[in-house]
Amino acid sequence: MEQILVTGALGQLGTELVAELQNKYGTEQVFATDIHPPMNKKYHGNFEALDVLEKKAIEGLILRYEITQIYHLAAILSANAEKSPNLAWHINMDGLINVLELAKEHKINKVYWPSSIAVFGPDTPKTNTPQNTVMNPNTIYGITKVAGEKLCAYYNEKFDLDIRSIRYPGLIGHKSFPGGGTTDYAVEIYHEALKTGKFSAPLAENEMLPMMFMPDAVRATLELMDADKEKLSIKTSYNIAGTSFTPKDIAKSIQKIIPGFNINFHPDFRQNIAASWPNSIDDSYARNDWNWKVAYNLDDITKEMISHLRIKRQAIKVY
Ligand code: NAD
Ligand code: SER
Repeated sequence: MEQILVTGALGQLGTELVAELQNKYGTEQVFATDIHPPMNKKYHGNFEALDVLEKKAIEGLILRYEITQIYHLAAILSANAEKSPNLAWHINMDGLINVLELAKEHKINKVYWPSSIAVFGPDTPKTNTPQNTVMNPNTIYGITKVAGEKLCAYYNEKFDLDIRSIRYPGLIGHKSFPGGGTTDYAVEIYHEALKTGKFSAPLAENEMLPMMFMPDAVRATLELMDADKEKLSIKTSYNIAGTSFTPKDIAKSIQKIIPGFNINFHPDFRQNIAASWPNSIDDSYARNDWNWKVAYNLDDITKEMISHLRIKRQAIKVY
């Protein structure tokens, strides 16, 4: 029986991934952790406070719950990382090294660690960015993701640790709040569309970025973790594509449902980060190796986001 530890479980990805892991393996088999306790006192399932910088504490949980798989999600995202580069390096790298070392020592069956389109940089081809190409990121977040990919590949080859990874595009979900990423504008915009009917975009109107709806990202993660190891030709991290759009495109998509929605553009430091990332992604390795296929396009995402956030607003009156 698998016993699964998830770090950073209260974040955007963790909130939705934990629920699917509980459905798949059983609520009691999943041990969600994060540096702070859940705001909702009635957290569904097992939860423990855990700082990924505390190696002994991680080891304590591995031993106590006889953990067989680790999903290591805890990280500082790109925009927040630019504000605190030392902290981002510390959490993103030392947290990962702690998990990899413990996974090696305790013979963990499988580790999942997310990478990002942030591994690419200004000199990477922007359109249909290939799986194997130039990776010279100019953000501290991107640097930690490139180093993390290399570290995972090293543990995989040197110690035969089964580590799997995806370079997610910007992730869009309605079950949690944005976590300080450059692509998080595409989550905030839906909240603001319902709350105030307007949004000030921190990116230029035509800045195109690869994005993905959270249920697609969660499904991709579980499909990769279930894939036959022999079929996985990529030992670092898989490119996956969802849909690509600009701030202007997402505004038009929202206006189909909320005609009065108004957007203006005030690019800040996040525009420079976005400009260094791809416009679209070539995910042919993921499609060939484990049959990856995206389900949601921009208008699908908009419909889902607005209908779920409307229900949430009605349930709690205002947030
Ligand atoms: P998030 O910021 O929403 O969540 C990260 C979680 O990590 C938070 O709940 C935070 O409390 C926790 N955390 C921070 N420091 C910690 C520490 N020292 N110990 C334990 N927990 C700590 O981010 P997310 O969007 O859920 O991202 C999850 C993973 O996916 C990250 O590795 C991120 O780099 C990656 N990723 C996310 C996106 C995206 O668009 N959200 C895209 C590509 C990759
Ligand atoms: N979407 C993330 C961010 O903007 C990239 O991994 O930080």
